[in-house]
Amino acid sequence: MGLAIIAQRPLVLLGQLRRRLSRRAALRLNIVLAVALALFLESVLHVRSHAIPRPPRDLDEPFSIQCRDPAVAAAAPRENATFVMLTRNSERDQARSTIENIERQFNQWFNYPVLFLNNEPWDPEFVRVLNASVSGLATFAVVDKGDWGYPAWMDVDDAKAKIAAQGSEGIYKAGAESYHHMCRFYSGNFYAVEALQKYRWYWRLEPSVEFMCAITYDPFAEMARRGKAYGYTVALWEVPETCPSLFRAVDDFRSDEGMPAAPMWRAMITPSRAPWPIRRLLGWWSTAHRTRGGDRWNYCHYWSNFEIADLDFFRGDAYQALFQHLDRTGGFYSERASPRPPYLPRYPANPSKKLHHFADIGYYHEPFFQCPGNAPGGQLLNVTALGDSAQSSPESPGAIGCRCQCPDGRRRNNRGVCLNALQAPAAFHRPGWWRRWRQFYPYTIGMERDVVF
Ligand SMILES: *[C@@H]1O[C@H](CO)[C@@H](O)[C@H](O)[C@H]1NC(C)=O
Ligand SMILES: *[C@@H]1O[C@H](CO)[C@@H](O)[C@H](O)[C@H]1NC(C)=O
Ligand SMILES: *[C@@H]1O[C@H](CO)[C@@H](O)[C@H](O)[C@H]1NC(C)=O
Ligand SMILES: [Mg+2]
Repeated sequence: MGLAIIAQRPLVLLGQLRRRLSRRAALRLNIVLAVALALFLESVLHVRSHAIPRPPRDLDEPFSIQCRDPAVAAAAPRENATFVMLTRNSERDQARSTIENIERQFNQWFNYPVLFLNNEPWDPEFVRVLNASVSGLATFAVVDKGDWGYPAWMDVDDAKAKIAAQGSEGIYKAGAESYHHMCRFYSGNFYAVEALQKYRWYWRLEPSVEFMCAITYDPFAEMARRGKAYGYTVALWEVPETCPSLFRAVDDFRSDEGMPAAPMWRAMITPSRAPWPIRRLLGWWSTAHRTRGGDRWNYCHYWSNFEIADLDFFRGDAYQALFQHLDRTGGFYSERASPRPPYLPRYPANPSKKLHHFADIGYYHEPFFQCPGNAPGGQLLNVTALGDSAQSSPESPGAIGCRCQCPDGRRRNNRGVCLNALQAPAAFHRPGWWRRWRQFYPYTIGMERDVVF
């Protein structure tokens, strides 16, 4: 009763106001009210049109939820796959630490080849030391001059001036020419490297990274079997200042090519609640991180220093056209970009089920990491190939890892906000508001498990 009176009160006041106004003024008031209502409803519909539909089942479950006997997994045939590490001669010790780590955690059983890439000739000492560290075939290739550096059509003085300007603004790494070359290389010409042509799959490694758990199955084989194109571990916010034009450039490309904003693309967008005219104005006025329609990028992207992916996807015409577009718009030099523009694997036409979050892989690259913890009762203590379990972290409820050594005293995983946003299109099981608010996320959306940090 009381509530009904409160709700009626504005309407009563409006009625009184109308009676006091002349007929013309009342008509104007009615028009204004009708337009306001229409704009409000349009804005509600607009926001709703960005909702991510829930798939009928989880489309991205973890590949593994406990230890397996690596000898059993390694008895299956190898995929057409390789590790790749782009590195410098001066990073010999850091490269060796990564290789020794991945050998211990995985490659001692699977013996996949490792391709080392450099934009300069190799130091023979680097080759000797790293060749001795790899259990599979080690290849040391030099990137062609034409695949590294400014494209032929570019105004190089202009690009250098822009790089210097980013450096003086203090944007991390953006003042270094070589960083921009590296970003452009990984986004496009990487797939054209001669030594990589004979492979379908790659696993990207960097110097000084650490895999914190044993990987007792073949991730390449699982990617192939389940039809995945791109696998990642950490998803996080991009620093907006580093790439003001990137998101808009990709969204313009998408809309100019007539590609719909699929759920996978919408998962990166925070729809604007502003009324339509203001939204359009926003999109026209502020291009940084906004679509033409005025909606904003949520800054979520994958941390691309870890990737396991299908090279044929990146070699394909669809992805290459997008790369060419970004290259032509100059973004690889006018801003910092990223070793792979933050979300390119979300190529708008790709279906949601092509992406995979490696929830079961422990990965550490200063300063961020993901560590899945140890699956209770799933540590295969009788399998001697897995070594001494005394070094592992204790088993914990809901954990899915194998023989992990998670860093102590820090939350086990990087914050889950972006993981949650980017996985939504593939997720049937989704965390409720309480869990989101408390920052409790499953290791992977799609696991109905409790997580203990
Ligand atoms: C790596 O070592 C193997 C055997 O020890 C040798 O046959 C091969 O030529 C070496 N590769 C390079 C690139 O030095
Ligand atoms: C491996 O994949 C590449 C690229 O898809 C292909 O050209 C090559 O023929 C494949 N090799 C084998 C042995 O299947
Ligand atoms: C280890 O134990 C599991 C069950 O706990 C069993 O399935 C497996 O065969 C055992 N493996 C070895 C190598 O003994
Ligand atoms: Mg790095």
